Amino acid sequence: MAQQEDLFKKIVSHCKEYGYVFPSSEIYDGLAAVYDYGQYGSELKNNIKTYWWQAMTMLHRNVVGIDSAIFMHPKIWKASGHVDAFNDPLIDNKDSKKRYRADVLIEDYLAKIEEKIDKEVAKGRKKFGDSFDEEQFRQTNPRVLENRKKYDEVHTRFSEAMNIGDFEVLRQLILDCEIVCPISGTRNWTEVRQFNLMFATEMGSTSDSAMKVYLRPETAQGIFVNFLNVQKTGRMKIPFGIAQIGKAFRNEIVARQFIFRMREFEQMEMQFFVRPGEELKWFDYWKNTRLNWHLALGLGEGNYRFHDHEKLAHYANAATDIEFKMPFGFKEVEGIHSRTDFDLKRHEEFSGKKMQYFDPELGENYTPYVIETSIGVDRLFLSLIFGAYAEEPTPNGETRVVMKLPPALAPVKLAVLPLVKKDGLPEKAEEIIEDLRFDFACQMDEKDSIGKRYRRQDAIGTPFCITVDHQTLEDNTVTIRNRDTMEQERVNITELRHIIGESVSMRSLLQKIK
Ligand code: GAP
Repeated sequence: MAQQEDLFKKIVSHCKEYGYVFPSSEIYDGLAAVYDYGQYGSELKNNIKTYWWQAMTMLHRNVVGIDSAIFMHPKIWKASGHVDAFNDPLIDNKDSKKRYRADVLIEDYLAKIEEKIDKEVAKGRKKFGDSFDEEQFRQTNPRVLENRKKYDEVHTRFSEAMNIGDFEVLRQLILDCEIVCPISGTRNWTEVRQFNLMFATEMGSTSDSAMKVYLRPETAQGIFVNFLNVQKTGRMKIPFGIAQIGKAFRNEIVARQFIFRMREFEQMEMQFFVRPGEELKWFDYWKNTRLNWHLALGLGEGNYRFHDHEKLAHYANAATDIEFKMPFGFKEVEGIHSRTDFDLKRHEEFSGKKMQYFDPELGENYTPYVIETSIGVDRLFLSLIFGAYAEEPTPNGETRVVMKLPPALAPVKLAVLPLVKKDGLPEKAEEIIEDLRFDFACQMDEKDSIGKRYRRQDAIGTPFCITVDHQTLEDNTVTIRNRDTMEQERVNITELRHIIGESVSMRSLLQKIK
């Protein structure tokens, strides 16, 4: 555990040191849970968005994209349920005066029990070696069984309380589980209270005419309210989807774990409109399609898992999360929800406008059902950084830090390194960049020893380093070094575009999606 925490800290400082992520307003001591993306971070983020957008809109003929405004009519948030029900249960510790999310305190407690179980299993594996039967061990080991029982009891009470918003039970659970405040170490808790997560501001110039508006807490509602605009102008036939990427804002109380839970973040959401009764078939389709999109990134199948929701929101008839193994455990990166006709019906009710579709094949009108896929750009960014970061020994006995990002998403695709800063080598390097910069994000790197420059590019995650040496001037060849294998090959300059293009193109990544 401590090892994982160390790794987490290292990765956060790596992100800062190498221009990926900076704390917002740093010179003013920062702004909690708000971050800025640096010169490499913003490139990586753009590439993530391109990968998602192209997978959605180019690989699916029946999915189109929109870009709706952040400000929306305030009635939308009444209709969607966010004004009345987008709340977190909060609890304060009377001694430390610190405020916590009651559900997060209990979730952390549950995660600790799971950790204990995993530790027992790891011990068993070590003890029994090859003959270890994990399933049997989990079903028979007394300590595992005891912890599993405790977990199930707390989990059941917790899910029920969350489902019906029973705050007294949440508080009682915190007391029963003897959860202490991490700061004061005491169990001196207040009651649990509701806290709405939406940021509000005013629109309009005079105090009389000003209207209370919200910064959107999700992009999805911009899709719902444009459903008919897109369907009619695009002559879309059901089933079809509308995709959108954009900022969302939530006044998160427990803001921690770096960019995992932010107050300003970005979502990539898609609402897929289907015939009523066909939603569970499409739910399965999008569950698999989205997992395959993640797997194509090559971060390892074992790092992903589905977490099916047992207790569903009142408007959903199926829901799952795609979770990624972060250093702080498996965490949600994407949600896939079968939202029935809840949102369209509510907008119909609140706006007084029909939100129905005429199905020419059935010859009837109906309110479509919706499957939603919703992923946070920042959480995907985080999973990529965690999955890609490695510390490895080099052949000369040193350790290198390397970010093995999928080449198509890497911020810089190639660095051109003149071996020495004289004899016409920098000029030759410039010539290569001058040609390749139309296809790839290139960088010239001529300071420090060649070894140091390799290390620097590895730390950024640049897939290829091209070294220009004296032989280059004689026969127009260079060495091309592969970031992951560290192998070098001598090739003609004219081959570079093809070799690099094969590996770093978005096309090559999109083709990996099964
Ligand atoms: N429209 C459905 C919706 O917004 P959600 O589970 O609340 O569902 C979807 O959010 C995704 O947005 C999450 O899986 C996560 O990746 C991302 N997300 C949500 N809150 C976030 C936050 N505070 N910081 C960063 N990402 C967040």
